[in-house]
This record gives sequence, C-alpha cells and structure tokens, in this order.
Amino acid sequence: MDCVYARRFDVAVRRGLASDQPRELSTWIGNRRMLLITTPTVYRLYGEALYRKLLELGVDVTVHVAQLSERNKTLSTVANICDVAAVAGLGRRDVFAALGGGVCCDVVSVAASLYRRGVPYVTIPSTLIGQIDAGVGIKGAVNANGRKNELGCYWPPEAVFVDPSLLRSLSRRHLRSGSAELAKIAIIADPALFEDLYEHAELLLDSGYSEPQRRADALIERAIELILAELEPNCFEDQSYERSLDLGHTFSPRLEERTHYALLHGEAVAIDIALSCRIGTELGWLDPNDSRRILSLLLRLGLPIDHVQLDHRLVRDAIDVTTRHRAGHLNLPIPSSIGSIRILQDAGAIGTEKICAILPRTRPRRERSRLRRVPRELHKSERNS
Ligand SMILES: NC(=O)c1ccc[n+]([C@@H]2O[C@H](COP(=O)([O-])OP(=O)(O)OC[C@H]3O[C@@H](n4cnc5c(N)ncnc54)[C@H](O)[C@@H]3O)[C@@H](O)[C@H]2O)c1
Repeated sequence: MDCVYARRFDVAVRRGLASDQPRELSTWIGNRRMLLITTPTVYRLYGEALYRKLLELGVDVTVHVAQLSERNKTLSTVANICDVAAVAGLGRRDVFAALGGGVCCDVVSVAASLYRRGVPYVTIPSTLIGQIDAGVGIKGAVNANGRKNELGCYWPPEAVFVDPSLLRSLSRRHLRSGSAELAKIAIIADPALFEDLYEHAELLLDSGYSEPQRRADALIERAIELILAELEPNCFEDQSYERSLDLGHTFSPRLEERTHYALLHGEAVAIDIALSCRIGTELGWLDPNDSRRILSLLLRLGLPIDHVQLDHRLVRDAIDVTTRHRAGHLNLPIPSSIGSIRILQDAGAIGTEKICAILPRTRPRRERSRLRRVPRELHKSERNS
C-alpha cells in the first residue's frame, strides 16, 4: 500500500471575522451541523453573540461551554466533548469549532481527531497564543500522567478564522504570554519582526494588540506566515526532529508541570528561551550583544527570564525526557543570531553539568532586581499555588 494523506487549510485574518461579520464562517459551515466549543469567559464575551448570529444565518449550531484550562486539558474533557457531539447528532461530515485560547484549540483538535475516527474542525482562536500558534498549527494534545501534552495528535483544522479584535479583552498577563511566542518566531526567523515588536511592545500590550492597529495586524499576519512556513515541510514531524519551532519548548514543559501550571505557557517559554541564549553564548554560537538584545525584548514584554524552580534536577529531567521524545537526540534549538537558529543535537556537546553550571549565572544581580519587578502577577499566582 502506498498511502498519501495530503491536507490543505486556509487561514483568514480579519478584524470582525468572528464578532461582527461571521458570514464567512457560516458560509464555510454551509448545511453541515456545527458544535461550537468554548469556555465560560469567551462565551460571555463573544460566544453567545456569535451563536445567535450563526443561528440567524441559518447554521445548525449547538454550543458546548466547558471549563477548559491547563488543569482540565485532559482525556476526560475530550470524552465529554465527544459525548456532547453524539447527543447533538453530529455525523462524519459535520464540524467541530474551537472558540477560545490554546487549551480550547488543543482539546478540540484531539476530540475532532477521535470522534468517529476523525471529523473536520475549524478554529476561531481568541488569545494571542491561539491566533499565532496553537490555533494555526496541526497539533492537538492533552496532559496525562502528570506530563504536559503527553497524549496528542496531528489533526489539521479545515479552516482558521483569526479575528485580532478579540484580543482587546485579553488580560495583560495573557497578552504577555502570547507575546513570548511572537518573540520566539521573530528570534527564529525574522529580525524585522523582532525590531517591530521591540519598538511597539508597550503600546501593543496596553491596547490588546489593537494599536497601532495596522502594525498589530501586520505582526500577527507575519507571525502566522512564518509559523506556517516553518511547519509546512515537516508538518507531521516525520522528516526530522530538528525543529527551530521547538525553541523555548525543551525546559518549559517541565517548568509548567513543576509549578502546577501557575506559570503560564508563554512565561515558561520565555524562561526557556533565555536559558537557550545563555547556552548559545557559552558555546560561542551566539554573540553576547544579540543575547542581551533578546533578553531585553523578553523583559520589555514583561516576561520572566528566570525562575527559582529552574534547577539542576529540572534541567536533567528536561534533557532526559526531551531526548526520548526527539528520538534519541536532544535537538535543542539555540539562537545563533536574531533571525537564525542552530540545533544542539546532543547535550554532550556542552555537557549537562555545564548547562547546570550556567544556571546560577542566569541570575546576575542587575537582572535579579528587574526580575523582582516583572511580572508582578506571576509572583502572586505562585504564592497562591
Ligand atoms: N498545539 C499547538 O501547536 C500549541 C502551540 C502553542 C501553545 N499551545 C498550548 O496552548 C495553551 C496555552 O494557550 P493560551 O495561552 O491561549 O491559554 P488558555 O487557552 O488557557 O487561555 C487563557 C485564558 O484566556 C481566556 N480568554 C480566552 N480568550 C479571551 C479573550 N478574547 N478575552 C478575554 N479572555 C480570554 C480564557 O478563558 C483563559 O482563561 C497551552 O496548553 C499550550 O500547550 C499549543
């Protein structure tokens, strides 16, 4: 048997797409049944209005409002969605729709991949992480056995509807968290995007990515373009486990687990990027000036660049788990300049001990005092956890 499974999907980016003018979405769904999955917050802000407009436009839509957070990003949540789909009578050509953040997109992707052995789904991401990353990729996952994203799938959406106006209501902390993924793609592939983000960081965060509007939309579109270009040649990760997009995703999952998800995804990614930069300068791959500029962008975005839980045990665990996950090689992406990545295939090239030895130095006094100031909510949530 020679079986090829090719997929194509469109990503539409426009303000109002999911709020004022869902006609495009309703045309896409056509005469199929739709199960709209969302969270209580997003339902209150946008979901209810969208649901009513879709009904007016003649779409046969059922809404499922569920608590979808990192703590219940689980298989039982997925099973629940599938049960609701069955009760609503969805068939194999009917459509799931994820209206929410990265967790909602991840969970709906897994549910769509399982229900009747796979049904179509669309995403309408409502957080910055969702719009530039989780909602436009093809991976879905749930947490299991105490591990983040332990179970998952590669199940591409049928279409993605990105409406940047939804970001206006997003909390500053989640805007910052999403900005870490934006910074990541800029560091990987685009010095101009990096400088744009650097220049407008404060206004973007203050305005919920609506000012300067043209610049904000261009940043979001560019990030999506770059992510898709990075994903396309190795979408199903069957060509290589050397992936630039894994920048910031080696130590961060362990940090998220260790903090019981008090640390947001983007915050953990920022800390991981900062450590990767320090490894890069230690290896002589990254110019210290570029490293400082990257750390400075992260701080400008109000992101943490270090964490008390980032200790030797965590680093060793991350190296072990990642090496197994990436089929025997660590494949740690390291910035080699702003806009390019080199892959450190094995920890042996620098030595786990040396990586651990870098850790205390990730807290020079000047940065430590800055860390105490930003971001305040982070320290608060840690105290509560
Ligand atoms: N599959 C992938 O390729 C991929 C890529 C990146 C991240 N992720 C995953 O995404 C998740 C993080 O996503 P996230 O940061 O969006 O978190 P999230 O989905 O938990 O959403 C964050 C919070 O924002 C609220 N919210 C959502 N939209 C809002 C809006 N428009 N206004 C106000 N509040 C709103 C939600 O109710 C929630 O409380 C992680 O689980 C991560 O692993 C997946």
